[in-house]
Amino acid sequence: SQPFTVAIDGPAAAGKGTISKAVAGHFGFAHLDTGLLYRAVGARVLEGARAEEAAAALCAEDLGGDTLRTAAVAQAASKVATIPQVRAALVDFQRSFARRAGGAVLDGRDIGTVICPQAEVKLFVTARAEIRAARRYEELKTKGGVDSFETVLADVRARDARDADRTHAPMVAADDAILVDTSDLSIAAAVAKAIAAVDDVR
Ligand code: C5P
Repeated sequence: SQPFTVAIDGPAAAGKGTISKAVAGHFGFAHLDTGLLYRAVGARVLEGARAEEAAAALCAEDLGGDTLRTAAVAQAASKVATIPQVRAALVDFQRSFARRAGGAVLDGRDIGTVICPQAEVKLFVTARAEIRAARRYEELKTKGGVDSFETVLADVRARDARDADRTHAPMVAADDAILVDTSDLSIAAAVAKAIAAVDDVR
């Protein structure tokens, strides 16, 4: 079947991952969480590697594992994500994934603006920072995390600022993106909106 790309961007813990997985499952599309690419590079840098070299050497096997889901790796990811050479090294992999036969959902920060400006469907998923931090805090608590809500909120805000203010491929909604604010939406309602947006153009 023809390629079909769904681009889902937005800040941390807004619900992109949940929505992306649900949309991919519903339509039988493949899903790429592009944050994992930057997290994998960030993790290598924490181990002492140079960011540009880690990005150039990245392969699919580097993207698994819960070790990429920590707050330290998230902050390292958003730092390496400001480096143009790092972003450039990850473009081809993302674009090939997006154009694979059978359809693809990519979620990240710059999918609708830089990686796939021709995506058939673009969503920008947001929520108020306090709500996103509360969700992240609950998620970390179930994994035995010890950070306070205030720490998690500060982390979310620091990452938002770094992602939105950087020069190269900042986090911003594409002009033609559909905004989905999940602050006051259930997961089911947010997923239904996303599926309806795809159904509209398919
Ligand atoms: O989505 P996730 O929280 O896993 O992303 C980690 C970091 O990777 C983000 O804070 C952002 O700096 C970076 N990122 C990016 N572009 C993407 C996806 C993630 O800059 N497409």
